[in-house]
Amino acid sequence: MMKHYPEQTAVHIALVGAGPGPLELLTLRALRRIEAAEVVVYDRLVGAEILAIIPVGAARFDVGKRCGEPSPSQQEINALLLALARTGKRVVRLKGGDPLIFGRGGEEALYLAHHGFRAELVPGITAALGCAASTAIPLTHRGLARSVTLVTGHLQGEESFNGWRTLVGEGQTLVCYMGLEQAGKIEAGLLGAGADGALPVALIVAGCSEHERVIRCRLGGLARAAEALRGATPVLIILGEVVALRDELDQLLTGLESRVA
Ligand SMILES: C[S@@+](CC[C@H](N)C(=O)[O-])C[C@H]1O[C@@H](n2cnc3c(N)ncnc32)[C@H](O)[C@@H]1O
Repeated sequence: MMKHYPEQTAVHIALVGAGPGPLELLTLRALRRIEAAEVVVYDRLVGAEILAIIPVGAARFDVGKRCGEPSPSQQEINALLLALARTGKRVVRLKGGDPLIFGRGGEEALYLAHHGFRAELVPGITAALGCAASTAIPLTHRGLARSVTLVTGHLQGEESFNGWRTLVGEGQTLVCYMGLEQAGKIEAGLLGAGADGALPVALIVAGCSEHERVIRCRLGGLARAAEALRGATPVLIILGEVVALRDELDQLLTGLESRVA
């Protein structure tokens, strides 16, 4: 059935991807929208360097969700965005990574559209791409991986999830967002679906930042590795044969460096 939306207004509200942290990984379009903003509503994962370029006179709303602390609900954020859009000011809704990848950008754009506001969608470098480049893990690689799946590990309310079989398979790289807390279930689910316990895994903490850490393990040891990282944030998990390429790249580069020295 055709959906009927209210007539759309020309007010400017942009849902902008801030990328994985560093200013240099922001797109030019995102930079322009932030520099022109009169109001910025931002999330917890937006990098400090990016928050620093918000114009001094712009109003700021921190709506970041933090574990264990009171934070605005999605309904409250939607209502805030609508109220701000109605002011006619240039509003930027700034989100870590890409607004449409596990960022609820779609929900916010739909909510605004239902109320007659067309939000501009400005892409950002999602954590999977940022972290892969930063840690030298090619997500696809001829002969090793011909597909990449981005999946959320946030299984709340999905205890009966039975799609593990679709996530394992030769030549597949799996990138798991928000997976740390659910690592035990992910390990059990993938092994139960037939994945190899020796599958290489990388857990990337604070990717692309000066605090970046990479912890390597095998699928069979994922829960244990995650337990050792309890409380670390943000963490991205990459699973697949391509993870081993990082070691190969490292070895080759170390060899080169010692020959140059
Ligand atoms: C709510 S999702 C938001 C994803 C974001 N929209 C994106 O496109 O990257 C948050 C999760 O993304 C992952 N993440 C985001 N930035 C990260 C980073 N710099 N390093 C590691 N993981 C990151 C973590 O799994 C984190 O729990």
